[in-house]
Amino acid sequence: MTAQVLDGKAIAAACRRDIRQAVQRRLGAGLRPPGLAVVLVGDDAASEVYVNAKARDCRQVGFHSVVERIAATVAQEALEARILALNADTSIHGFLVQLPLPEHIDANRIIDLIDPAKDVDGFHPYNIGRLALRRPALRSCTPMGVMLLLDRTGMECRGAQATVISASNHIGRPMSLELLQAGCTVTVTHRFTRDVAAAARQADILISAVGKPGLVQGDWIKPGAVVIDVGITRDERGKLHGDVDFDAAAKAAAWITPVPGGVGPMTRVALLLNTLQAADEVLDDG
Ligand code: GUN
Repeated sequence: MTAQVLDGKAIAAACRRDIRQAVQRRLGAGLRPPGLAVVLVGDDAASEVYVNAKARDCRQVGFHSVVERIAATVAQEALEARILALNADTSIHGFLVQLPLPEHIDANRIIDLIDPAKDVDGFHPYNIGRLALRRPALRSCTPMGVMLLLDRTGMECRGAQATVISASNHIGRPMSLELLQAGCTVTVTHRFTRDVAAAARQADILISAVGKPGLVQGDWIKPGAVVIDVGITRDERGKLHGDVDFDAAAKAAAWITPVPGGVGPMTRVALLLNTLQAADEVLDDG
């Protein structure tokens, strides 16, 4: 078998066209464009790339977009004051604080301060709790992007065996909740898991989000599986690698995502969809 490639770049471009139309409908109804703010603390090079891409997406779909650049030396209290100001800013329907934050900043306290109705990253404990309780509100972007990709395969999630290699707060855990919500039987592996390969081999849907190139080998793939590679690692020459040995895995899988051009663009689409949803839920937004 040779897998079909799930082309996240092309699917994301199609989704952005739909989002652009939804924005036009808002404007036609006398409403404001959805407004997204991204808070970037310090000058981490990778964060700079991500933030610029998010701002470019916003321009493409007609969102109001703001990037707030804040010095790496900012005090916890000053950053918290910026969060409260964004919570109160009616031109901003959603915002996120790009991670990682400098070491002296308590990221959990920052996330906890974000108004859950504006938490378009879906990281706030309220939004994770809503997903856990089967009443999703604003959903974490990467897991939501993965669900949009799974949808494109036409695969029946109900009853499927899914394995998530990662139990992280921002990807593994909400990913497992999304899959559970979709009716999968979910296995989550983490650093204490005795046999990750065995958990992978039983998966109809295999999702890896570890950040270890080559971790997922060809003989870990169940024939006909959907393989979603969320890992992203930049080597010393600047080339990006996923967790999955793509060529070997593609021989067994039915569907597989490339890196780059798989999950990344869909994470950004999920951010746009969340911002649109946050805007649409504001009453009296003219
Ligand atoms: N850093 C890398 N990816 C993300 C993301 O999706 N959201 C935030 N806030 N920070 C990130």
